[in-house]
Amino acid sequence: MTEILAADAPGIARAASLLAAGGLVAFGTETVYGLGADATNDRAVAAIFAAKGRPHFNPLICHYPTAAAAFEHVEPTPFARALAAAFWPGPLTLVLPRRLTCPVALLAGAGLDTLAVRVPAGAAVLALLRATGLPVAAPSANRSGQVSPTSAAHVLDGLGGRIAAVLDSGDCPVGVESTVLDLTAERPFLLRPGGVSREAIETVIGPVRRGVTPQAAEASRTLRSPGLMVSHYAPALPVRLNAVSVAADEALLAFGPPLPGAGAMFQLSETGDPVEAAARLFAGLRALDRSACRGIAVMAVPEAGLGLAINDRLQRAAAPR
Ligand code: TXA
Ligand code: MG
Repeated sequence: MTEILAADAPGIARAASLLAAGGLVAFGTETVYGLGADATNDRAVAAIFAAKGRPHFNPLICHYPTAAAAFEHVEPTPFARALAAAFWPGPLTLVLPRRLTCPVALLAGAGLDTLAVRVPAGAAVLALLRATGLPVAAPSANRSGQVSPTSAAHVLDGLGGRIAAVLDSGDCPVGVESTVLDLTAERPFLLRPGGVSREAIETVIGPVRRGVTPQAAEASRTLRSPGLMVSHYAPALPVRLNAVSVAADEALLAFGPPLPGAGAMFQLSETGDPVEAAARLFAGLRALDRSACRGIAVMAVPEAGLGLAINDRLQRAAAPR
């Protein structure tokens, strides 16, 4: 049963406590309804992907009540500070470098060194973000492949019964998603047009290019995935999939009972639970990438539930570079 919460003090308190406990709570923003989870809780973030039925792990936007709170987790550039002052709270998302101390789960950022952050507008969502004190990771609150919801009823159509609660703050006034601007390269890149126009952004920071950063374009090319809007995390060590045995100079990414003999091992899920495995995937790849081994052997993960998204990422990690 999905709880329908009113956007009043008791409803917001209930939504905040569900988020703190690792639950999924949909909430209205000025753009569209988001499907929120505690961004520092990797199991809760994995549950977002499971509820949406996403076949791959897109990086998620982290939501904060203030620019100061956001900039504790990412490094603001002068452009970022100027845009935050001009448009936050509001429908603008900024992609910035993660700080080393950033507590956001790697899965929320799809393993990247960057993080998308925004301060949404709306009394209810801001009250919720203040009440949790947590960064809240939230994609649009629709099943994968469906359009973004702009009312609580839309959210329930797609996700009723699959999430803990929806905080009903009425219809979303903007109705299209936030503008996503990448500020990690020398020049700003508009990754997704949205609620703040390019012209409005350009009055604050000057010319903005449409498209992806040169680094992201290069990464998409080498991963042979044209059309990808963001680059993907890939380990430096070669990755070997569907391993049925492992050498002493290989590191093993295990799923279920581990193969014997590996030089290093990281267990995704002892019990073979794909939600747990998704939550640990990027941390596992990074840990094994730092081992002294010559490659990473990966045990097969069944194509069920989040297994699809896990295998999508593992195939990209294993693609020839
Ligand atoms: O208005 C919105 O932005 C809504 C509300 C809920 O905030 N959220 C939303 O999230 O539309 P989602 O997950 O549907 O779209 C997020 C977009 C995707 O295009 C994703 O690729 C991009 O932001 N993105 C997120 N993190 C990124 C990163 N580190 N680098 C580049 N792009 C990123
Ligand atoms: Mg979406």
